[in-house]
Amino acid sequence: MRDTIVVIGSNGQIGTELVSELRKIYGDGQVIACDIRRPDYDIKNAGPFEFVNVLEKDILKNIFQKYKPTQVYLLAALLSATGEQNPKLAWDLNMNGLLNVLDLAEEFKTPKIYWPSSIAVFGPNSPKVQTPQYCVMDPNTVYGISKLAGERWCEYYFQKYGIDVRSIRYPGLISWKAAPGGGTTDYAIHIFHDALKKGSYHSFLSADTELPMMYIDDAIRGTIELMDAPAESINIRSSYNFTGMSFTPETLAEEIRRHIPGFKLYYTEYDQRQAIASSWPKSIDDSQAQKDWAWKPEFDLSKLAMEMFNNLKR
Ligand code: SER
Repeated sequence: MRDTIVVIGSNGQIGTELVSELRKIYGDGQVIACDIRRPDYDIKNAGPFEFVNVLEKDILKNIFQKYKPTQVYLLAALLSATGEQNPKLAWDLNMNGLLNVLDLAEEFKTPKIYWPSSIAVFGPNSPKVQTPQYCVMDPNTVYGISKLAGERWCEYYFQKYGIDVRSIRYPGLISWKAAPGGGTTDYAIHIFHDALKKGSYHSFLSADTELPMMYIDDAIRGTIELMDAPAESINIRSSYNFTGMSFTPETLAEEIRRHIPGFKLYYTEYDQRQAIASSWPKSIDDSQAQKDWAWKPEFDLSKLAMEMFNNLKR
């Protein structure tokens, strides 16, 4: 059977790159980009685009009816920092959006669903270093709470209705094509833009705030590899720990100085995102992903910085 893939939230940081990659693999016409906003480039010229608000279940149902997708990626969400500004909306979008998709997947017998989780599912009492797959999880952002609840729903729909839903707990994702979506890890993207434009950056996280991170190419490849893996090898139906590297603003600044020697890093007095970052893991143990679907990152910090500068300079 020829795959038809629906990507909801196609204009975001992940969606933009995932849609292009999936279209390379499956063909432009087979990947339906969906978002509440009109895409401003590539996506709408290359293949089908539909306006979809994941909270409008009737419209979403029309999409399932019209395209009979074999895979649905649900990427629409409010992230950690924006979520704190509007907790009820974050809960509504992140939770009811997922439930709408899972219900329709059951109704239309959609073969595969992808839904991203995050390192935000961990909290202040989770182990900080090499955070294991299973441990205390006490997220204290509405984003983290919704992702943890979403993970439980994914596993529930798998066990109860046999929905083949797969998920990854993304670390901070670094990319240059589309702007990041209002997360706590966004500093690690803004820093590259400011380094090129101003030669300096004001970080809202302190010098020693270490967080798990990944270059977008690794994240997209890992996501597609998980979706391609045989169902029998997917032992985790909540969400997989997943990581590429870990760094602090200071180590990132040192790497940037290899490209821009006089680069200066300043620190903002206090920002609420510091509290969020301090409650998250410093590094992640993703051995289960390595074991189940042979996950292996290709980008380290120096390769990531090189890619960011080469692309942003263009
Ligand atoms: N990058 C996300 C955030 O900072 C974490 O999943 O909110």
